[in-house]
Amino acid sequence: MSVDLSSSSAALMATLDADRYCVMGNPVAHSRSPWIHARFGELAGDAIHYGAQLVALDGFAAGARAFAAAGGRGCNVTVPFKFEAAALADRLSDRARIAGAANTLRFESGEIHGDNTDGAGLVADIERNAGVPITGRDVLLIGAGGAAAGVLGPLLHAQPARLVVVNRTLEKARALVAGHQPLARVADTLLQALPIDSLAHDFDIVVNATASSLSGGAVPVPASVLRPGTLALDMMYGPSAATFLQWARQHGAVPRDGLGMLVEQAAEAFFHWRGIRPPAAQVLAELRAVVDGRQP
Ligand code: ATR
Repeated sequence: MSVDLSSSSAALMATLDADRYCVMGNPVAHSRSPWIHARFGELAGDAIHYGAQLVALDGFAAGARAFAAAGGRGCNVTVPFKFEAAALADRLSDRARIAGAANTLRFESGEIHGDNTDGAGLVADIERNAGVPITGRDVLLIGAGGAAAGVLGPLLHAQPARLVVVNRTLEKARALVAGHQPLARVADTLLQALPIDSLAHDFDIVVNATASSLSGGAVPVPASVLRPGTLALDMMYGPSAATFLQWARQHGAVPRDGLGMLVEQAAEAFFHWRGIRPPAAQVLAELRAVVDGRQP
């Protein structure tokens, strides 16, 4: 008996048959990654099956190994497991090693390969999507936790003239900067960790990599770091970015949330796994419409 599959059920069959990936985190329910990767697969003509896995706080290594043992080809890693993911990997890309954190794992021939695509995603969003070159510019990075560590190397790779890192706990900023000085020398970038109260001038680009707005806190730097036209980017999006974006707007800066970075880091992960560059700009426009409650 022949079965006439409709195109949508044919697509479903292809997805069920496809290589399996997931995002692992805690929490993970609100992750947009399954939507983004499904769309990449459709548009690139390379269907993958991509789910979300909630992992117990003490269960990341076991969860990742179990997913690999069950045939999973790779996973994205989100809060709070990026440092553990780097420690778990048998091999690390240079950018994951320098960050000490991995957001992308690939399971291959019994080995775990770790990469970090967050920084490449941020740089692509600033330079390509926002149209702001980093080379030769003054950049302020706020924060010294995992999110900041993941992007500092790629920001330096883009060769800003000066990159200042500030953090509520100055010692953490100093440690992060110390570990990146060799890269800064190669990039010919003046890289500094400064106390927040010593910030004396404005910047071309300000990136918020802190969790301050999550706890409802105020933006942890003075508005004097902004001037009209400064690109002020929060690595978060949705309500979590609202305080920072409103502050930026109030002071004449150009606000930008982390949705573009999210899509661009996912595109880089898709490339790491599949060797295909998906159409990130199209997917970003579609996701923006979804997040804003409009149809793509
Ligand atoms: P993530 O992986 O998201 O970066 P993290 O490693 O816990 O998470 O780091 C959180 C960052 O947000 C840190 O830079 C933290 O500052 P401290 O190092 O001083 O803890 C910063 N942060 C969190 N809450 C903050 C607040 N209310 N004000 C200012 N900075 C805050």
